[in-house]
Amino acid sequence: MTSESKQRIEYGDFQTPDDLARAVCVRLQAVGVCPDAVIEPTCGVGAFLLAAAESFPEARQIAGFEINPDYLETVRRRIDGCPIYHRIQLRQANFFTADWKALFDQIPGRFLVIGNPPWVTNSGQSAIGGSNLPEKSNFLGHSGFDAISGKANFDISEWMLLDILRQLQGRDADVAMLVKTSVARKVLAYAEQRRDAIHDAFLVGIDAKKHFGVAVDACLLVMRLDPAAKPQGDYTVYADLGAKFGKRVGHRQGMTVADLDAFEHCSFLLGSSPKKWRSGVKHDASQVMELTRTPAGYENGFGEITWLEDAYLYPLLKGSDVANGKEWRNKFVLVTQRNVGEPTEIIQRRAPLTWAYLQAHADRLDARSSTIFAKNPRFSVFGVGDYAFCPWRIAICGFYKMLHFRLIPPINGRPVMFDDTVYYLSFDSETEAIETLAYLQSESATKLLSSLIFWDEKRPIKTGILNAVDWSKIAQNATTRKTIEQLELI
Ligand SMILES: C[S@@+](CC[C@H](N)C(=O)[O-])C[C@H]1O[C@@H](n2cnc3c(N)ncnc32)[C@H](O)[C@@H]1O
Repeated sequence: MTSESKQRIEYGDFQTPDDLARAVCVRLQAVGVCPDAVIEPTCGVGAFLLAAAESFPEARQIAGFEINPDYLETVRRRIDGCPIYHRIQLRQANFFTADWKALFDQIPGRFLVIGNPPWVTNSGQSAIGGSNLPEKSNFLGHSGFDAISGKANFDISEWMLLDILRQLQGRDADVAMLVKTSVARKVLAYAEQRRDAIHDAFLVGIDAKKHFGVAVDACLLVMRLDPAAKPQGDYTVYADLGAKFGKRVGHRQGMTVADLDAFEHCSFLLGSSPKKWRSGVKHDASQVMELTRTPAGYENGFGEITWLEDAYLYPLLKGSDVANGKEWRNKFVLVTQRNVGEPTEIIQRRAPLTWAYLQAHADRLDARSSTIFAKNPRFSVFGVGDYAFCPWRIAICGFYKMLHFRLIPPINGRPVMFDDTVYYLSFDSETEAIETLAYLQSESATKLLSSLIFWDEKRPIKTGILNAVDWSKIAQNATTRKTIEQLELI
């Protein structure tokens, strides 16, 4: 990696194009943002400073802060000699050590904090040996922060936004930042929990591929603070800067709802799924445990061919097979236990070839990094129990951006297993499986599920969402019956 690209990663350096910064300011003007002062905490080469100077003539002061002195030099050259930019002041500063509270206290009136904070996560930083991070103690001292952002990883922009919001408590201010959509949602959830004085908030979709050349779901997050108003947890999501109508998003009954209007129509289905959604088999050793049947024998991921007894082999559909409606491709998975923690030595007697195969690959299986494998009998798998051996299934892949449930019958009399990207319900009877599928595909269930799913997330479909739909409340009406008759099996 060149030192230039390392620096770009460490500082999350994706400069906003001038036309996008202008379009953002025009949108802010349209919703009545009219600041007395503007602050850009990580101003880069100044796109937002220039756009704010053009859009907010009433702002007496426009202050830009940036860690990189070369960027500040560039801004100086850009504003030099232009009267419209004379209100712009620049200062070199590290966001993490600057005293934002003292700075905000010096500014009278209503102000706007605008910008595009660094696009990098703390783990992205450590991967390149970067140190552009908040003080550890400071980060951990943020009570409740871990719960919101997940201890393992957080976005620098998330930390910065939460910090700014904290420093702005008690002030009349607007915050408008370009961030990852997932960051915007976390910040708003945390702000609601903290009862920050946000009286209006909205997200506007930004085409990050077009403007920044990166495939990230990004948005403009706007939060309007007013200490005198009642905090508002709900917010609106607009598809793009030109959109006039958006979807209302908020938190209801412990869930984040992506579309409140749709949710309110079908929230009667919210409850507990009559059957529990489960994840496919977790073995963390696909090259050993997943095999393809060939005329010569079973071929594993190393290209080795072997013969194994049927006893522990089950047909396998991968997440991509489930999502793409693919037929079974003669793939199998070794399921070494019927229940979690069950002893595995019995395989030696029941299926000596399988035992010999597992022994031959013991090094690889013993090296599985997850500690759950170390704490359980050798060659263990997870995602098993009586449910995993019921013949009929309804399955959906958590990673794919579509709500597509598939009915999966047994293959050659054996239940089909999935990898752990798939969620499924299992049934003893075909009739029950078909009826349940019809309920899940009904208009109300589809509407409720769609209102709870955020499609921009990495794994949009989650067991928490699936398990919250009580399909037993769906009336068996004519439409459901028709759907049952039309169902196609794989
Ligand atoms: C995503 S870029 C955006 C720049 C500018 N806000 C814009 O909209 O074009 C992030 C900027 O944050 C700056 N930056 C990164 N870490 C910083 C820190 N700790 N303190 C201040 N600025 C920082 C980078 O140098 C970079 O210019």
